[in-house]
Amino acid sequence: MERLSISIADYPKPGVVFRDLTPVFADGPAFRRVVHALVEQFEGRFDAVAGVGARGFLLAAAAAYATGTGVVTVRKKGKLPRKVLSEEYALEYGTDMLELHAEDLQPGSRVLVLDDVLATGGTLAAAARLFERAGARVAGVGVVMELAGLGGRAALEGRETRALLQV
Ligand code: PRP
Ligand code: HPA
Repeated sequence: MERLSISIADYPKPGVVFRDLTPVFADGPAFRRVVHALVEQFEGRFDAVAGVGARGFLLAAAAAYATGTGVVTVRKKGKLPRKVLSEEYALEYGTDMLELHAEDLQPGSRVLVLDDVLATGGTLAAAARLFERAGARVAGVGVVMELAGLGGRAALEGRETRALLQV
């Protein structure tokens, strides 16, 4: 799977090596394998799938469709039209705010949260906090690639976190 990501030096700012996973999404068999591998490890333990950010949405929609569950989106600030819960977070490169339509979730839902990359964990930890504040339970966090050494796993302490690949 590693050969399907491309490392881009100094993107989006100097000093950052950005792992671009779009080749995985563009390769049909690889995308299917990735989605199945992500859901397999949490099989039977979630009622909804959540995607975080643009690339998380692709994974979550495919995973929800494959497992017959609903899909929930965790959006960047200002994108959701109804009442939201908000959480601020720090990125590897900047800060931002994530928002959730908590009312779209049944209380007590078990949510599988998916994204492409776990780096500092700021994004996924903020998403997990949103679900916990909404009265849902984070059944697990699944990512395609974990950038080990950036503290992401520690930021997600207490939530079962699985990465298909660690680099
Ligand atoms: C990227 C990636 C993760 C997050 C990981 O998203 O898809 O969501 O950063 O970084 P972290 O672990 O340090 O928080 P990005 O913010 O670039 O948004 P996008 O997916 O909408 O492009
Ligand atoms: N790739 C994709 N998303 C990211 C990265 C990366 O290297 N770092 C932080 N978010």
